[in-house]
Amino acid sequence: MVEIIPIALGGSLFSRKEVKDLDIWRSEIIDLLSNYENNEKKFIIIIGGGHLARKEIGVAIDSGVNDKFELDLIGIRCTRKNAFNFMKMFEDHNISVNKEIPESIEDAIELLNSNDLVVMGGTSPGQTTDAVAIKIGIRLGVKRVFVATNVSHIFSEDPKINKNAKKIKSISLKELGILSGVGSVIEPGASFAVDPVGVSSAINSNLPLVILNGHDVDNLRKAINGEEFIGTNVFGD
Ligand code: UTP
Repeated sequence: MVEIIPIALGGSLFSRKEVKDLDIWRSEIIDLLSNYENNEKKFIIIIGGGHLARKEIGVAIDSGVNDKFELDLIGIRCTRKNAFNFMKMFEDHNISVNKEIPESIEDAIELLNSNDLVVMGGTSPGQTTDAVAIKIGIRLGVKRVFVATNVSHIFSEDPKINKNAKKIKSISLKELGILSGVGSVIEPGASFAVDPVGVSSAINSNLPLVILNGHDVDNLRKAINGEEFIGTNVFGD
């Protein structure tokens, strides 16, 4: 039976500022996502907007755009641009990947029938790509959803504000809901370890999550294979 694995891959991972050796990271991620034998796993990768989204949203705000819906649409376009580039990288390696970026969860799921790997960006305003990955996971009834970001763990507090914030290795969905601010309004381009809109959906569906640093591809591989990994395990009831 094929296991479908949704991974939200933060857009910051595509920046030379954040990933020291981007070329090595790229070849490692290609190797990870294309080397499961007998089609034992298929991946659906949801790519974030990273610096591009923050820059474009900032430029729009400076030009007087203040409608959140419009700003979110700008963010979504950036996630899809990053997704397109990521998809092309696999196409160039002759890997079975979609040819166009799907714009909805249903279209993405449809593409899994004919591809081993499906790459996409955001879908609708009012959330981030973490929430898209989580909603796909719920729709497909997967065991867990991976959120590969630029921090190693969920912390007890914002580590930028409190240097003594503690790394959390294991936490319940409900506790994560409190830490991530489920219920609060999210601003276009705002930065989170994990999007509270997605966490809220995960709580409602009791869907476990894994949050880890996407820079370390070997660690991501261990998590996917069910081995011990560095990161935060978010468990259900
Ligand atoms: P991201 O998913 O990139 O958010 O969406 P992020 O938390 O900044 O993730 P990283 O940094 O890439 O890891 C960027 C913006 O695009 C809009 C929102 O405005 C979001 O803040 N967006 C994205 C949506 O409105 N809907 C989506 O489905 C996805």
